[in-house]
Amino acid sequence: MLNSLPVPSSLHLARWRKLLPQFETLEASLQNESDRELRKRSLSLRFQAKSGEKLRNLVPEGFALMREAARRTLGMRHFDVQMLGGLALINNCIAEMETGEGKTLTATLPMYLHALIGRGAQLATVNDYLAERDAETMRPAYEMLGMTVGVVLTPDKPDQRRAAYACDITYGTAKEFGFDFLRDRLLLRRMGRDASDFLGEGSSQRWDASGEQPVQRGAHFALVDEADSILIDEARTPLIIGTLGGKAREQVEATFNWAAANAEKFIEDQHFDYEHDTKKVELNAAGRQLLRSLPTPPVMRSVGLIDLYQYTERAIKVQRDFLFETHYVIDEGEIVIVDENTGRRAEGRKWRDGIHQAIEAKEQLEVSVPTGQAARITIQDLFLRYRHLAGMTGTAISAAREFRKIYKMPVVRIPTNRPSRREQLQDQIFGNARRKWEAIAAEVHQLHQAGRPILIGTKSIDKSELLSQLLAKLGVEHQVLNANEVAKEAEIVALAGQPGRVTVATNMAGRGTDIKLGEGVAECGGLHVICTELHDSARIDRQLIGRCGRQGDPGTFRKYMALDDEILKVGFGPQTAERLASKGSAQEEEMNSYGTQFLKSQRKVERKHFRDRSILLHHEKERKKMQREMGQDPYLDTAD
Ligand SMILES: Nc1ncnc2c1ncn2[C@@H]1O[C@H](COP(=O)(O)OP(=O)(O)OP(=O)(O)O)[C@@H](O)[C@H]1O
Ligand SMILES: [Mg+2]
Repeated sequence: MLNSLPVPSSLHLARWRKLLPQFETLEASLQNESDRELRKRSLSLRFQAKSGEKLRNLVPEGFALMREAARRTLGMRHFDVQMLGGLALINNCIAEMETGEGKTLTATLPMYLHALIGRGAQLATVNDYLAERDAETMRPAYEMLGMTVGVVLTPDKPDQRRAAYACDITYGTAKEFGFDFLRDRLLLRRMGRDASDFLGEGSSQRWDASGEQPVQRGAHFALVDEADSILIDEARTPLIIGTLGGKAREQVEATFNWAAANAEKFIEDQHFDYEHDTKKVELNAAGRQLLRSLPTPPVMRSVGLIDLYQYTERAIKVQRDFLFETHYVIDEGEIVIVDENTGRRAEGRKWRDGIHQAIEAKEQLEVSVPTGQAARITIQDLFLRYRHLAGMTGTAISAAREFRKIYKMPVVRIPTNRPSRREQLQDQIFGNARRKWEAIAAEVHQLHQAGRPILIGTKSIDKSELLSQLLAKLGVEHQVLNANEVAKEAEIVALAGQPGRVTVATNMAGRGTDIKLGEGVAECGGLHVICTELHDSARIDRQLIGRCGRQGDPGTFRKYMALDDEILKVGFGPQTAERLASKGSAQEEEMNSYGTQFLKSQRKVERKHFRDRSILLHHEKERKKMQREMGQDPYLDTAD
């Protein structure tokens, strides 16, 4: 009752279905035309769009063209349900299409249509792997219709970014889109332009300023993939850029990098002393001499010697004491601290006194120069700025109320192309975690021997390690992914459907990743997915489960729970959770009656997060209103 505001999906769908025959008639007439003729038609559509023809009127021919182009270039013809999905997206809805139904291909329809106007169409997703994969797989179809395609990836330099945004169609992550927006905003202010005449209007105006130029060209249309993750879960995440600009920033960055590159030349006891109780590194005379003999780039010319000693000592300390995977991991080009006690990722936390930056330099990442805040925007505000916004995901319905409230976007549920063959096996509930993990390992062992591939989602790195040890004891060969770098992991998760493969990953790694079944796997039942614990949000569980049974493939999944699971503590509070846990430990079997408790607790946690987000939203709104009233840019700090 609480989450399910009646969504008239059926009404929308009934209306849109009427267009399907029209698409087919048009498509039939296109089939006899040459590639060149298709492109000519596309050009003519572009002309019509630019001369002010309503996009709505270009939908039939535009969609039919895209369908035909995809068939010719990709060997995939948009299913009818994908055409319906495309219509939902062109109508600024959130399209819920089951995992594995082909949202990547569906996206080409609204992307192509909006790109016709010539102000760019942007597809935002959750990681670099997906951005690049989707841009590259869909590129041939777009290009057949004369559309250019660009991708913005985390390591890209400004020139590459500008080129990517200048394309008709641009893929990238929400985060990169946001940071580029902020960097442009700061630049425009430095250039003394009124930002508002450039941004928000979707203008394609070129800039003649000497040297630096903005990379983006306005906010016309954004299609957000994994919309629940980006627009709901990450909505409040602020993207922040510091104040140190231009030369000063370059110098600090260069010095961190220089120190990191040279750190290994210094040898303990020969060049520096290490004090074990204070963990301090200090260069000795020989070390200082070595340092002075090292060449420095011109940009570092004005860095003082004392500073150089400090930078170097810090770099040595980081080499020595801060270990990859033990103390930190890397996620999309960022250092994420691993809490030493829990083995969990401490998202958002940073080491102080330049240590964090020294580690970034050591890992050859972009150095986040420590400075005050100069510009910030939340993911939510970023997307609310687009003139047209649409979203798609496999898991939207349970967040329908929030989508409506915050974005005024209705969720439309698109039916599947073929009935799903994903089968849920009976939940397994245990008195305590130990028994649960043993049962999981035993199930993996058994299915593995039968030759089935298995994907196991865990909630944290330490739990992955625990399971890994149990599996090793049973002699089950497996892959453990430790959320070091989500994009790389996605590539490995994509292989999880190969015969006999066992993949242990954190729940997050799966989102959006397409797992194709290896030879013979479908015959023995497809991929089996194991949820080892309920997540805070059922949507995350559904995403993991959605890695199997894609495109009508066979597949199974099972959820495991234990009475001392986190979810019960967060949902019911420690006392109730404690009572349940002690009840559970006394009982040997027959735990299934507790199933509803878990779901109830998960709902509670979901509602709590929803409330937290609403409160934040309210505060943010007030803050922006105040700044506007004072004539300030709500995204920029006042001090320059
Ligand atoms: N019209 C089509 N014809 C043939 N194959 C298709 C078609 N549409 C999609 N597919 C295939 O379906 C698979 C799943 O597609 P995709 O990864 O886009 O799904 P998705 O809906 O984005 O899933 P997720 O929610 O997990 O991101 C891919 O292997 C893709 O090639
Ligand atoms: Mg997808």
